[in-house]
Amino acid sequence: MTTTERTIGVPPPEMSLNHLMASLSFCLDFVSQGLDRHHQRVTFTSLVLAEALGLTNADKAAVFTAGIVHDAGVSSWREKSTLKQFDVDTPWDHCQRGFDLLRGTSLLAPVAEIVLCHHDRWAADNRSGKSGRDIPLAARIIHLADRVDVLLEPSIYVLYQRENILAAIARLAGRVFDPDLVSLLTEVSSRESFWLDLTSPFLLRRLSEYPLPSLAPTNSQVLLDLSNLFAGIIDAKSPFTHRHSRGVAQAAETLAADMGFSVEEQARVRVAGLLHDLGKLSVPDEILEKPGPLTPAEFAVIRQHTYYTYHILREAGSPDPIPAWAAYHHEKLNGSGYPFHLDASQLSPGARLMAVADTFTALREDRPYRPGMPRPQIEKIMEEQVESGAFDPTVVDVLLANYRHLEELWATLQ
Ligand SMILES: [Fe+2]
Ligand SMILES: [Fe+2]
Ligand SMILES: [Fe+2]
Repeated sequence: MTTTERTIGVPPPEMSLNHLMASLSFCLDFVSQGLDRHHQRVTFTSLVLAEALGLTNADKAAVFTAGIVHDAGVSSWREKSTLKQFDVDTPWDHCQRGFDLLRGTSLLAPVAEIVLCHHDRWAADNRSGKSGRDIPLAARIIHLADRVDVLLEPSIYVLYQRENILAAIARLAGRVFDPDLVSLLTEVSSRESFWLDLTSPFLLRRLSEYPLPSLAPTNSQVLLDLSNLFAGIIDAKSPFTHRHSRGVAQAAETLAADMGFSVEEQARVRVAGLLHDLGKLSVPDEILEKPGPLTPAEFAVIRQHTYYTYHILREAGSPDPIPAWAAYHHEKLNGSGYPFHLDASQLSPGARLMAVADTFTALREDRPYRPGMPRPQIEKIMEEQVESGAFDPTVVDVLLANYRHLEELWATLQ
């Protein structure tokens, strides 16, 4: 039986795929002040336009799915800041990376081309080779919605800026944007409620409730598919971690199998492993890639990543105990971990094995400040962690007993 055939447990019935995806999209929207909701707002505007166009439910579902992950190809803060410029010159790299990531999942492959073309200009040479009506309609919609959002200035009251935003967009109608869509935007945005929705704290609820009956119900396969996609996004943040999440998932699942977890639990361990660093996208590139030791202030920023892993997974409605297994991987049995400072009485076997799997995988990888370590050095560190009361000795024993097998598995990851 392969992992994909196993059951992970069905998420709560009230949880829609819209809600799951809109919550996971939070991890694409970290900025220095905390969480932005760029993907949620772009999806909302896109759906308003799709609705006004009278698109079918299947087409609206495609607009939603592509919109909520449209910048999946952006993992670095540097690139994110260039895309914030209204007239960004060369947006193509993240379109291609997003296309490649989505194509690798069965759930999102059908909308990969929309993501590829979401910066295509109406009357220009685009890298996709398309222009005008050859550009998929959903991509034209998302492009327009995306640029409206980039113009939205958070420090100015939303209803004071709508005229300026619409004027800036109108100047590019027929050149950058589909002129018919620009007219439609002017029409739908004459309602104050359109703008108020965009800045509303209830936006996630509005998106979750959006009627998209053609979307597949959330099930184990969907959860695993999305976990693989987000693992790819997280790992793309740095060349040093290009297989980290998959490596942790693989090691954690191996430990779980040996420790007697049920088949269903092993599959949940895999999902938790794939998503354990979901909050890593909250850490600026210069800190993650720093070649020397971190300052206390920089380390404080690193410590926030598992806080976000936990709360994004809870918000997404991930079945228990996935959020805890994923997010407690820097907690220690002796209470010296972070960010929740849990201790042995609060750390379940799933959390304990994730901590060991994460450290094991990280030590094997090259880092900006050191090369990957050989086995004797890793074994020594693991034993020290047990002696200091940080790691569970049973889990470390299982790891060491499976060392050769884990090395073979690791070698299969590209
Ligand atoms: Fe983009
Ligand atoms: Fe965007
Ligand atoms: Fe981590």
